[in-house]
Amino acid sequence: MDTFALAALLLFITGGVTAQVQLEPQSAMVLQSSDARFNCSTRQQGWTVMIWSLNGRLALTILEASGMLNSSSRFSGIDYSTTGESKWEFIIKDVSRNDSGEVSCQIQGSEPVTAGLSVQESGSVEIVGMNWTVMEGDQVVFQCLAAGWFPTPQLFWTVDDTVVDQQLFNTSSVEVGTLVNSNSTLMFTAVRNVSVVCLASIPSLITPLRSSVFLVVEKVEKPAHRDQTVLIAVTVSISAVALLVLIITAIVLCCKRRKRAKTNYQEEVRAHARSPKEGATHPGEGQGQDNLGYVTDPKANDTNSEYTDSGFWQSNYISTIQVPDVVKSNQEANNYHGTLGDNGVRKHRHVTIV
Ligand SMILES: *[C@@H]1O[C@H](CO)[C@@H](O)[C@H](O)[C@H]1NC(C)=O
Ligand SMILES: *[C@@H]1O[C@H](CO)[C@@H](O)[C@H](O)[C@H]1NC(C)=O
Ligand SMILES: *[C@@H]1O[C@H](CO)[C@@H](O)[C@H](O)[C@H]1NC(C)=O
Ligand SMILES: *[C@@H]1O[C@H](CO)[C@@H](O)[C@H](O)[C@H]1NC(C)=O
Repeated sequence: MDTFALAALLLFITGGVTAQVQLEPQSAMVLQSSDARFNCSTRQQGWTVMIWSLNGRLALTILEASGMLNSSSRFSGIDYSTTGESKWEFIIKDVSRNDSGEVSCQIQGSEPVTAGLSVQESGSVEIVGMNWTVMEGDQVVFQCLAAGWFPTPQLFWTVDDTVVDQQLFNTSSVEVGTLVNSNSTLMFTAVRNVSVVCLASIPSLITPLRSSVFLVVEKVEKPAHRDQTVLIAVTVSISAVALLVLIITAIVLCCKRRKRAKTNYQEEVRAHARSPKEGATHPGEGQGQDNLGYVTDPKANDTNSEYTDSGFWQSNYISTIQVPDVVKSNQEANNYHGTLGDNGVRKHRHVTIV
């Protein structure tokens, strides 16, 4: 073993002795506005004074005998010392970005030991747009915006709680002042309803921030189904039209038949009118009194007009109420009213019209 190696070994051993002071953690990443904490410990007895500094500035002095000398609202300590080990926790309250840097603990008679402090900022994360609906097989593009982060957040996606492969999305970031905005684009083919989540993470964040939306996928109707629907629609329409035609035909036929029946009836009535004796047996007889003034007039059967001079509704009315004799002869009766008959007797006519 040469002298150089011996010197190195001696240095190492000496270093080992000095390294009895330990600072933990070696590096801390904390969110802005939260607290940063470090532990400094030594088994060495009689260290007298411990000095904490942040970025080269004295922050807290602790005496072995009496504890903290200059604690403040920002910098304080907790004594975790046990027999055989001295240990103090250094607390920096409400850290801000400019606290990032170096935290050091120095015990009298030893080299200072340092640890890194990184203050980070979590921003917002949001998938652009709301829940949306697409057709099966459509290409869907989701965009996720993460704004106001430090450092650059890691963006990732889950689809139905399965992490999406990094090759399936693109992420770009831009610095805005001391912060970073990131933008991620995810593209895939819609197959079924899924929940899509975008997550943004930085080391100091225990659980990533997330934004989620639901993608509703509507099945494309199979052509066969569509044809069937059309077929049903056409069948129903044709059936409806056919039914309508049938009903109309039935109505027309029915009307014709009734008309014919009515005509037959009217002919019968005329026949009765020609032979008054027969008319007496007519069923309509009971509807009116015997018309004593009735005189058969050939003209009477020709007054078939709907509205007679005397203002009585004739033919149709007759067919309904069946008092043909009396009403029909009304006109003629009027002609005789107030005149003397051949035999010189005033004829009185009593007509009751129902
Ligand atoms: C410091 O040590 C104490 C006691 O072992 C422990 O409770 C605390 O969590 C430690 N703090 C850090 C920042 O490691
Ligand atoms: C660090 O930032 C805080 C608030 O963000 C500010 O009050 C303080 O003065 C800053 N300190 C330095 C050294 O810039
Ligand atoms: C999206 O859909 C889910 C579940 O249907 C619902 O809980 C949520 O409120 C919807 N979000 C928006 C922004 O419409
Ligand atoms: C990512 O970007 C590349 C190049 O700009 C592009 O070809 C690719 O389609 C993008 N992928 C996604 C998922 O957006």
